[in-house]
Amino acid sequence: MSEVAPVVDAEYMAEIERARRDLRALIASKNCAPIMLRLAWHDAGTYDAKTKTGGPNGSIRFPQEYSHGANAGIKIAIDLLEPIKQKHPKITYADLYQLAGVVAVEVTGGPTIDFVPGRKDSSVCPEEGRLPDAKQGASHLRDVFYRMGLSDKDIVALSGGHTLGRARPERSGFDGAWTKDPLKFDNSYFVELLKGDSEGLLKLPTDKALVEDNEFRRYVEIYAKDEEAFFRDYAESHKKLSELGFTPPRSAFSCKSGNKQKSLLVQAAAGVAVAAAVVAWAYICEANKKIG
Ligand code: HEM
Repeated sequence: MSEVAPVVDAEYMAEIERARRDLRALIASKNCAPIMLRLAWHDAGTYDAKTKTGGPNGSIRFPQEYSHGANAGIKIAIDLLEPIKQKHPKITYADLYQLAGVVAVEVTGGPTIDFVPGRKDSSVCPEEGRLPDAKQGASHLRDVFYRMGLSDKDIVALSGGHTLGRARPERSGFDGAWTKDPLKFDNSYFVELLKGDSEGLLKLPTDKALVEDNEFRRYVEIYAKDEEAFFRDYAESHKKLSELGFTPPRSAFSCKSGNKQKSLLVQAAAGVAVAAAVVAWAYICEANKKIG
């Protein structure tokens, strides 16, 4: 059981890309994006910034943690991911679960989220009660998310994850989806929140708290009007959530096309420097010949 950080070298990165392809295929064939996102969030959302315990460390794979009340149903996602873990054993559970969350958002039409690998696995499970209780309100949301080191903006942006999926009575006691198309990642969660109670759609007490609290409501109104703003903030908050308590290894490559472009630029600059050195060397040799 690895409690040491994986070595994030070129081979680890190649394995991450192979796993990413397998995750896309799995999520498309099983329509399981919502529960993958919920798994990534529930592994990460136990983080306590003060004690530096919990967080995205794969500990949710143990019965001691996945049997917590808030995790009802999450074992389905853990089991779906196990064949991918077996196929790519180098990748830690912690990285795999967060990568699954990132891919779930991406393949359902949401923003691209920067993914930096290198998380350690842990076999230490946090005590029950760190995830939010859906029956409570704004101050409880703040208690839980501030404990993780997250902000009001993060609370609202991340709650937009409820654009995907549904609640089931046998798992949480709640029933229904938040949006009309629960397999599409868009800003409709916020549009529906502002409409108030609409027939057939779910609003948890914690969802309602986002329109009742003035500070939260400010963001709900922005995101309902401007999907680009939601996607930008969501991608930023999701990355923060997925990296709670994680300091990326210095060698860690980032998996966003922008970084690929940066590395191509560095390669091109190095190429130009080598070519210039060769020309200079040829010139010096030629000059030396003439002198001789
Ligand atoms: C703000 C506090 C939150 C509370 C109280 C909460 C609560 C819940 C509850 C009660 C369910 C229904 C579970 C079931 O019956 O199967 C659920 C589902 C879900 N939650 Fe949250 N959640 C919160 C935040 C988040 C965040 C931050 C994300 C992701 C970024 C998220 C993603 C999801 C998804 C995707 C589902 C649907 C799962 C499925 O369809 O299987 N939730 N949540």
